[in-house]
Amino acid sequence: MKDKFGREMKTLRLSVTDRCDLKCRYCMPEEGVAWLDKPQLLTLEEKIRAVETLVELGIDRIKITGGEPLLYPRLNDLVERLARLPLRDLSLTTNGTRLETLAEPLKKAGLKRVTVSLDSLDDERFKAITRGGSLKKVWDGLMAAEKAGLTPLKVNCVVLKENLEDVVDLARLTMDHPWEIRFIEYMPVTASVRLERSQGVPPKEVKAMIEAALGAMESVDGYAHAPSTDWRLPKAMGKIGFISSVSDSFCSRCDRLRLSADGFLKLCMAHADGLALKPLLQGGIPDAALKERIRGAVHHKPEGHSFWFTTPAPGEAMSRIGG
Ligand code: 5AD
Ligand code: SF4
Repeated sequence: MKDKFGREMKTLRLSVTDRCDLKCRYCMPEEGVAWLDKPQLLTLEEKIRAVETLVELGIDRIKITGGEPLLYPRLNDLVERLARLPLRDLSLTTNGTRLETLAEPLKKAGLKRVTVSLDSLDDERFKAITRGGSLKKVWDGLMAAEKAGLTPLKVNCVVLKENLEDVVDLARLTMDHPWEIRFIEYMPVTASVRLERSQGVPPKEVKAMIEAALGAMESVDGYAHAPSTDWRLPKAMGKIGFISSVSDSFCSRCDRLRLSADGFLKLCMAHADGLALKPLLQGGIPDAALKERIRGAVHHKPEGHSFWFTTPAPGEAMSRIGG
């Protein structure tokens, strides 16, 4: 399944719920967002049919996202079904607040690994940036994930001016943990979060800060279509990644599609274009026709985004897009 620029679609980010129990400053407005109503959401069977069709069309990596995916009541059933598909990777991105108890059952259901959002190692700053989250809970969740074998573990940190002093401590975690810590550039996707682009810090600056404190890093190979570039500190067990979605976009190697909790097949994070699958699935569309519709939509995947030049689309929330 290719788009008109020849990019082949291999990765699906599957958002299973738009709900979240945190309100990270870069993702949600303080007053929260309106949640989708249950009748709008895909049912478990609709999710599975959509994913199976996409897998038949060539998708072989799935990342389960949210909102916060651990809030989706049927997550274990979903993972069990997805684990039977011919996939090269089945992972999940979580805020970690419920991971301590759910890591083990998810591993048993067939999940391979998790990525945990962790923006600060300081209690107060963690609480401020997530608007109320508990660092201890997330840390215990990380430990539980490691113990359950949901590895290699990845940690996501969105770097803002307010947590810039955390990046060296976070990077240092790779010295004695085989984790990948990824520093993500803030993307001004959701207008309602009212966080200026200038509050973000370009990954180049973050890298220079880490190297000044901990030594020069060497480049290491990763998945060729991943948005991150990977590095290693001298003698470190783990890796450090930088995701420069604004200052150095990775659109030309993008192999991703996104499916939202209400069944919208989104072609690019920064554009509204896509295909609403819910009505097609509800209408009992035959397999061949469904594949044709998806192929037709994917053909028109936008070439790229320009966060520098456009203002974010109204009504779009990062919490719904799932990163
Ligand atoms: N800019 C960059 N990254 C973001 N995430 C959420 N909102 C933003 C944003 N505005 C990231 C979080 C989370 C992942 C799913 O998306 O780090 O780990
Ligand atoms: Fe929730 Fe993740 Fe958004 Fe934070 S970044 S508010 S944890 S969806």
